Amino acid sequence: MAIVYGDRAHNVHLTGTGRFLPPGVITNGELSRMVDTSDEWIVSHTGIRTRHIARGLSVTDMAVGAARAALECAGLAPQDIGVVVATTVTPERRLPSLACDVQANLGIANAFCVDINASCTGFIYAVDIVARYLATGGAKHALVVSAEKLTDIMDFTDRTTCILFGDGAGAAVFTASDEPGGLLGSYLAARGDGGAALRCRWDGCIEMDGHEVFRFAVRALPEAVGKAMALSGRDLSELAYAIPHQANRRIIDAAMRRCGIPPDKVAVTVDRHGNTSSASIPIALDELNRDGRLRPGDLVVLVGFGAGLTYGAVVLEVSD
Ligand code: COA
Repeated sequence: MAIVYGDRAHNVHLTGTGRFLPPGVITNGELSRMVDTSDEWIVSHTGIRTRHIARGLSVTDMAVGAARAALECAGLAPQDIGVVVATTVTPERRLPSLACDVQANLGIANAFCVDINASCTGFIYAVDIVARYLATGGAKHALVVSAEKLTDIMDFTDRTTCILFGDGAGAAVFTASDEPGGLLGSYLAARGDGGAALRCRWDGCIEMDGHEVFRFAVRALPEAVGKAMALSGRDLSELAYAIPHQANRRIIDAAMRRCGIPPDKVAVTVDRHGNTSSASIPIALDELNRDGRLRPGDLVVLVGFGAGLTYGAVVLEVSD
């Protein structure tokens, strides 16, 4: 599905970002004592050196931390928010939703709340959905929060998966306004017939065909970037940053090369966080924002892929 945000009643701006990374860290050395692997193998095949682990913290704790930071960054009170969309593949329980837990913890009294699961593409899907809602006058401010406790669904005897994933949360606030700029275009897609390549097995732990996922990712990311950029009406040469889903440094490098995006414009956090599924893009977005690297007028593409198989991209111009 694709849309040009041309028929909108309002523009939709990114007005706040936040992240929460739990203090616990697992190094490659620690993993080497659990499974038959090595720091050298993990770094050369994935680029990952460390990942966070939420010892004694729930996925809700992390989501609340990131959401609180994003609200503060936006300068908004909880009651200003009209929509909360949470994304996670590791909810604490089937119900109530993570979005309702975030609402309850932060007193976001005037919002409706819903979770979506598009796996690692969750943040991109959520941004597109809330943008359309805000653009047509459904609310003034929306909170998207993506939180994942992937160490809960890791088989720490399987060296092909347990080295890749980590825990964390990222959040963003979006605001409807008549100022120009903001979200300019988006493209979402899914290939459900490829779902067997990456899924949870009978005991709830992740299993995957790493080669198949790799092949999918290096095709899907350029397709999504190309489609979203075309819909935005802007040229790739105008990009300030690309923020790809952080799954594997080799996937990022290969896909961005195929897109024609130079390495100095690509946000990379996978070395420090591993793959935090739907949280990886908003965490990287918040890092850029708080480091002062995002300037008003900057053009940014966010692009993700994941289980489903799902993929998609969003193009936005950074607001004042
Ligand atoms: N440590 C040491 N050796 C390992 C290992 C590990 N952690 N994991 C696999 N190996 C071994 C394999 O058993 C294989 O050994 P063999 O040649 O004796 O059979 C060898 O290393 C090469 O394995 P291979 O699977 O070909 O490596 P790769 O270069 O494809 O890298 C992944 C494996 C998983 C890192 C890579 O395929 C990948 O990142 N895929 C995408 C996964 C992903 O991002 N999933 C989430 C998407 S949201």
